[in-house]
Amino acid sequence: MVFPTLCAAVAFALPFVGAVQERGSVSWSFQGCYTDTSASRTLSEASTASANMTVESCIAFCSDGGFSLAGVEFGSQCFCDYVMQSTGVLTSSANCNDACGGNSTEMCGAGNLIDIYWNGTPPPTTPQQVGPWSYAGCFPDSVSARQLPNQQIIPGGVTVESCTSACQAGGFVFAGLEFGQECWCGNSLSASSVLRTSCATACVTNTTEFCGGPSLLTVYENPTAQVCSESTLTSAFTLTAVTTMDAVLIPLYVQTIETESPISWSILTANVSGPFTSEILSNGVLSTSEPQLQTTSLAVAVGESPLFITTESSSTAAGPYCSMLDPGIQGVTGQVLAVNTHSNLWALCHNITACNRLDVVYSPIANHPHYNLASCEPVYLSLTS
Ligand SMILES: *[C@@H]1O[C@H](CO)[C@@H](O)[C@H](O)[C@H]1NC(C)=O
Ligand SMILES: *[C@@H]1O[C@H](CO)[C@@H](O)[C@H](O)[C@H]1NC(C)=O
Ligand SMILES: *[C@@H]1O[C@H](CO)[C@@H](O)[C@H](O)[C@H]1NC(C)=O
Ligand SMILES: *[C@@H]1O[C@H](CO)[C@@H](O)[C@H](O)[C@H]1NC(C)=O
Ligand SMILES: *[C@@H]1O[C@H](CO)[C@@H](O)[C@H](O)[C@H]1NC(C)=O
Repeated sequence: MVFPTLCAAVAFALPFVGAVQERGSVSWSFQGCYTDTSASRTLSEASTASANMTVESCIAFCSDGGFSLAGVEFGSQCFCDYVMQSTGVLTSSANCNDACGGNSTEMCGAGNLIDIYWNGTPPPTTPQQVGPWSYAGCFPDSVSARQLPNQQIIPGGVTVESCTSACQAGGFVFAGLEFGQECWCGNSLSASSVLRTSCATACVTNTTEFCGGPSLLTVYENPTAQVCSESTLTSAFTLTAVTTMDAVLIPLYVQTIETESPISWSILTANVSGPFTSEILSNGVLSTSEPQLQTTSLAVAVGESPLFITTESSSTAAGPYCSMLDPGIQGVTGQVLAVNTHSNLWALCHNITACNRLDVVYSPIANHPHYNLASCEPVYLSLTS
């Protein structure tokens, strides 16, 4: 006996694939069946999984998360993103042939294949120019060997705008955005760039622009930035203030202002009472070359005199000082002293609370209890060997 072909018996309606899905008033249109891997997701920002997965529930999940792309895979998985990652390759829709776990008349991708829907919102962009900063490329990075070592914590969140301005304030040449929410600054870049489209993670606080990717930096460069030349100098030097207006040279000294045995504090001043000192710059820390006691610089505060502490134990911390090349000012020969690449914010101010002593002040401010801003004279601090 010959059985009739089974085709008729199991005939079924062609499963739903590739149309428009409505979510509220928004239409999500089918984009196709793309390759995907767990190592490098085609939609990489968010995911969920359910044995009940349907195209509708995946779109609802991604839509609620604010994403513009939703993709179903392997019958039960759902992925979201703002842009399709460049690793995904379009294949024939016929390859995405797993029915959805929650609706067998719909297709939900297949193993390593994802059916993608889009709500029509344009993908994020990579601004090419932000102030003096130009887009320089997408560069690989790693936790063990940071390309740009100075991370910036930005209270309002990391965007291309906030990161470049933080790096600019620090006087850096490069600004890099990574992993959607990290901002890194530095002065050199040793890696070779990779495809621009690899840096495709939207900024968490501005999803209309890109902030790098996982272990990938979207890098901007500021060619006008000035760079520190050294934060360690091999030989000792003396510091001389050079007035910006008329190139008058005024020798500077580290002078004790307060002692609470066994600790004493000193500042940089033009009026000396103690013995002549020369200075050493090591790892950003200034210290005086006194043989017995270690006098080292502390953090520099805006509006204050640079402070030094003298103790019996030596400190090895890094500091903000560096030397910069001759700024081309009359009277300055060789390098000048800077704080985080700012060499042009020093002034000499008459200290009212110390008999008008002429003290060095970093970036003098108005309404300071110890000096009148009007009495401050801008200077460069010249390093003389
Ligand atoms: C499947 O969906 C039903 C009804 O929508 C729900 O009650 C159930 O918890 C779901 N099961 C899973 C595993 O998500
Ligand atoms: C199952 O999918 C079909 C095709 O998209 C749709 O018309 C139907 O409403 C879905 N059923 C459920 C319960 O979601
Ligand atoms: C968000 O990104 C867009 C595109 O780069 C930019 O035009 C806009 O100024 C950014 N908004 C903020 C608040 O940074
Ligand atoms: C401090 O030094 C300046 C410049 O050398 C000098 O004009 C001034 O008289 C000195 N003031 C005091 C209080 O020693
Ligand atoms: C002014 O003198 C006081 C007292 O010696 C000192 O603490 C302070 O650091 C000096 N400089 C400024 C800018 O206040």
